[in-house]
Amino acid sequence: MEEVTLTINGKNVSCPSGTSILNAALENGIKIPTLCNHIHLEPVGACRLCLVEDEKTGRTMASCVTPVAPDMTILTDSPTIKTHRINIIRLMMANHPESCIVCSQGNRCELRQIAAELGVGQIDLYPMPHYTGLEEANPFIIRDLSKCILCGKCIRADHELVVVGAIDYNLRGFKSRPATVHEMPLEKSSCTFCGTCVSICPTGALSVKNSAYVGSPHKKSSTICGFCGVGCSIEMGSVDGQIVEVTPSHNENTVNRSTLCVRGHFAHDYLNVSERLSTPLIRSGGELLPATWDEALDVVAQGLISAKKKYGPQSVAFLGSSKCSVEENYIFQKMARVILGTNNVDNGSYGSERKVISLVSERLDGGGRIKPLAGLEEAEIIFVIGADPTETVPVVGYYLKRASRIKGIPLIVADSRRTGLVPFSSLWLAVSPGSDVELINGIAALVSKKDGVDSSFIDKFTQGFENYRDGLSAFDLERACRVTGVDMVSMERAADLLRGKKIAFVIGHGILQQKYGASAMDAIINLALMTGSLVGDNKGFYFIARENNEAGALDMGTVPDFLPGRRPFHNDVDRKYWERIWDVRLSPDPGLNLMRMIEEAEKGNLKALYVMGENPLRGLPQTERIRNAFNNLELLVVQDILTTETTHIAHVVLAGASFSEKGGSFTNMEGRIQSFEPVVSPPGEAKPDWEILGLLSKKMGYPEGYLSIQKISAEISRNVPIYSELGKGREEAWVRETSNLRLFNQDGMGDSIPFSAVTSKEGELFDKEYPFAAILGSLKYHLGSGTRTGLSKRIKDFGLKGEVEISPEDAMKLNLEAGDKARISSPHGSIEREVTLNKGLRPGRVFIPIAFHNNDVRQLIELTQLGEADSPGWNMRPVRVEKIRKNV
Ligand code: SF4
Ligand code: SF4
Ligand code: SF4
Ligand code: FES
Repeated sequence: MEEVTLTINGKNVSCPSGTSILNAALENGIKIPTLCNHIHLEPVGACRLCLVEDEKTGRTMASCVTPVAPDMTILTDSPTIKTHRINIIRLMMANHPESCIVCSQGNRCELRQIAAELGVGQIDLYPMPHYTGLEEANPFIIRDLSKCILCGKCIRADHELVVVGAIDYNLRGFKSRPATVHEMPLEKSSCTFCGTCVSICPTGALSVKNSAYVGSPHKKSSTICGFCGVGCSIEMGSVDGQIVEVTPSHNENTVNRSTLCVRGHFAHDYLNVSERLSTPLIRSGGELLPATWDEALDVVAQGLISAKKKYGPQSVAFLGSSKCSVEENYIFQKMARVILGTNNVDNGSYGSERKVISLVSERLDGGGRIKPLAGLEEAEIIFVIGADPTETVPVVGYYLKRASRIKGIPLIVADSRRTGLVPFSSLWLAVSPGSDVELINGIAALVSKKDGVDSSFIDKFTQGFENYRDGLSAFDLERACRVTGVDMVSMERAADLLRGKKIAFVIGHGILQQKYGASAMDAIINLALMTGSLVGDNKGFYFIARENNEAGALDMGTVPDFLPGRRPFHNDVDRKYWERIWDVRLSPDPGLNLMRMIEEAEKGNLKALYVMGENPLRGLPQTERIRNAFNNLELLVVQDILTTETTHIAHVVLAGASFSEKGGSFTNMEGRIQSFEPVVSPPGEAKPDWEILGLLSKKMGYPEGYLSIQKISAEISRNVPIYSELGKGREEAWVRETSNLRLFNQDGMGDSIPFSAVTSKEGELFDKEYPFAAILGSLKYHLGSGTRTGLSKRIKDFGLKGEVEISPEDAMKLNLEAGDKARISSPHGSIEREVTLNKGLRPGRVFIPIAFHNNDVRQLIELTQLGEADSPGWNMRPVRVEKIRKNV
């Protein structure tokens, strides 16, 4: 790009043409005051505070919207400019209410700060305040538009960043204000309570509702959101060791670009609840009683070692967590494998994605991992399958909506339900639950028939295409339409949109968690290979990660089938590698996954289970079955930050620290490894998980104590090639590609990737007794089973009921109206819910949100696998729906 040279305040400056004067100044350390400008918003030149003067021409201009030009001689602080700025601020202050002086947002109000910097004190103009009511009925946001300066940042954030369109300018002239349609309260509008507008508002017009604290936090610290796998960068504000505020980071290269979702912004208040554990507990006389760390760890160490001695290493198991850090997962699985000699290690992601991700990892030899979300806004076409990111990972939803609405990128959505992305899509494929294998193979058959394949990619990087193509030619498309419920016109349209394009696949729990997930993923990999869609930042697989460190837990080998670095446990070479490093002989016995652990506990073969950061009694189906299995254990250790359904039945409870109270790293769904530091101290005697594990290892005779997080990250970076960048003093690193496949190798050497055979699956079968497909999914207000978000006061105060959604046609048949109470039953249990009608559901399907009512929806599901081996199949169930009470 052409370089432009100019002077700013006498300093020679050079920058690419098209740069605004404001950015040119900022990049050269020259500060210009602004109110309506923001790093992630298109500049509009609304406030005029950033005026600068061209000394040569005497022309004044808004620097945020004026590009640099050769030979400009810009003054940012000339007497003329100062006078203009002071007048602008005086006018704004005159519009402000008198309460401005005592506003609780005063310390963070940019208007007040700039006024102070310019020496504007008492308002000397005739005051013309806008009196508007205070809107604070919802538990998240307070709106006091009397303090609005019409900078438009909230509206632009709502339209340009989160693409919701809940607010816009209303009325004209002096009365103009940002408002919802028909001035409805926010909770009745389409607002998602992401809070992005609040964190970007330069005045006190929009603020966070905080019943526990009023005023500015005493300390602000950067960290990573503790909820989902996007890993948003946040600032946590604290007062006296308590988190009182969360805002998005406004740095340039964060994954969330100044946005958050309702969970990240408002649900971290769960960190201060009375259910936090603050001391170790030991069961004695049927009760859990406080103990010292020494006492508790003695019981755990002796219990684990004696179980190993008495019953053998297979009698002990370790269930880790995708909520705990990379470092903690590493030493957790190491403790199991090295000290206890067992490969019985798993983590909570078993239920959400493990099987499918492991398959991809094996088929692509770990390649194609690095997927910056920014690539979605540069994609040729996006295919969203079995994912509703607007609810599960809302920041990914923002990327997709921006890609479609702002960049015009075609979007195909395959989902049984009309999700929040469907209005942004070019095509919605309302596929019948469980029939994605047929859908993908049908589309692939049509792409192949229409000659939409990438032959040079196929020749260079793959093998077995001919057989695969023959399989597609023989594929019964009419049957596929019948099974999927997608008509041929839509199938053809999908193939037309995809052919000849490189595809960015966004894959969610509709695939990851379904009973034929592995076969569906096999079919998706074939389609990606056929279209040459695997390498590059704007194509390939974007897997939705529900928990913040799902990827990191798998990378660190907190699973029975992989050792750290995602090296297969069954591979002798990889096992020998770790035997050398850990100086130990690793048992080659295949370990138990979560499901097998429960089954072995049921049979009485598993004697001791160590659970870190998971709550199986709330998260997994068939609670009573799990409770009975756990009651068979001689030792159940639960390490957690909260009192949960599972800590209640433990023999020993170890009080852990939350992510905000310790250091470590999380790996997000992009492959970005983000390190964080403690923001506050843990409550009472609670300790970081890594420290507890270090102390326990020592008690069990392991010589090396883990005295610092740095020591653990150094061990990881030394020995796990894909984490070689970890802990090098940087806040951020990326997973490294180390695949041996030619496709992912810089030098073009290595193996080619085989196509797999075309398979067919029936989809879900229904009978007269259970005629409805119940789709079990998340809403944005809760994460997973809701152990944490269910304790957030704000989320509770919002009063969501978790209604069952049913199509108007089915409601009519069942004589149901909105607000009626219905019983939903499966062969495994039943629940009761209020009914709401959803026109976006096809007849025969109902949607039930998980996490509500203590996550009782899990009682509808069977714990043991119903589909392919090791697939949880927990996202869909055939059910019956009956009316039990009329809305009154
Ligand atoms: S509410 Fe805040 S962000 Fe929105 S226009 Fe007013 S001052 Fe600007
Ligand atoms: S909270 Fe989010 S969705 Fe609601 S108006 Fe603000 S930016 Fe829009
Ligand atoms: S999208 Fe995920 S990481 Fe980002 S704020 Fe929401 S819950 Fe947190
Ligand atoms: S910052 Fe340039 S006009 Fe507001």
